[in-house]
Amino acid sequence: MPANDDLKALIRTIPDFPKPGIAFRDITTLLLDRHGLAETVGRMAEAAEEWGPVDLVAGTEARGFLFASALAVELGAGVLLIRKDGKLPGATIAEDYALEYGTDRIAIHADACAPGARVLLVDDLIATGGTAIASCRLIRRTGAEVVGACFVIDLPELGGAEALRAEGLPVHALMAFE
Ligand code: PRP
Ligand code: ADE
Repeated sequence: MPANDDLKALIRTIPDFPKPGIAFRDITTLLLDRHGLAETVGRMAEAAEEWGPVDLVAGTEARGFLFASALAVELGAGVLLIRKDGKLPGATIAEDYALEYGTDRIAIHADACAPGARVLLVDDLIATGGTAIASCRLIRRTGAEVVGACFVIDLPELGGAEALRAEGLPVHALMAFE
């Protein structure tokens, strides 16, 4: 598969979902394409390898899980689930954050990562950066190190990648939608 633009062509845009005025960037069409999916995971892994070895790949519910799991297998790491609050069975730590279209609260198991563990943060998309910054803060609260953050899609107008870099994180996205 071809250039970045071909992967971009596999993303479908749904206007006014889930609210009027939101152009929803739908990855389900990319997931349905076996070549596109493999190419996406391969390119994310290649970018992440620049930041050195990782112990865990952290993915944020729900769409982040898909890429985190595939990337963890590719990188020889485990998977850390960052879930919407109230879903994890053990003792948790949580953070509130704002979304492009609402607010939410995410959590991880308090004992999910060992202090000093090297963790890669992965999600399908970064918009305002609220989810990724809250995820990064949660992981750092355990004493683990977040080595970088990888996304399929960046929405640069919403400033999330820039805000994440301001938190001291290297950020890579495979494509951007203006
Ligand atoms: C979406 C997306 C990211 C987040 C990005 O998830 O998968 O996690 O929004 O937005 P932000 O940069 O403004 O925080 P959503 O909360 O819609 O959940 P879902 O994956 O369960 O659909
Ligand atoms: N998460 C936050 N903003 C989004 C958008 N515009 N499309 C898909 N997922 C999103």
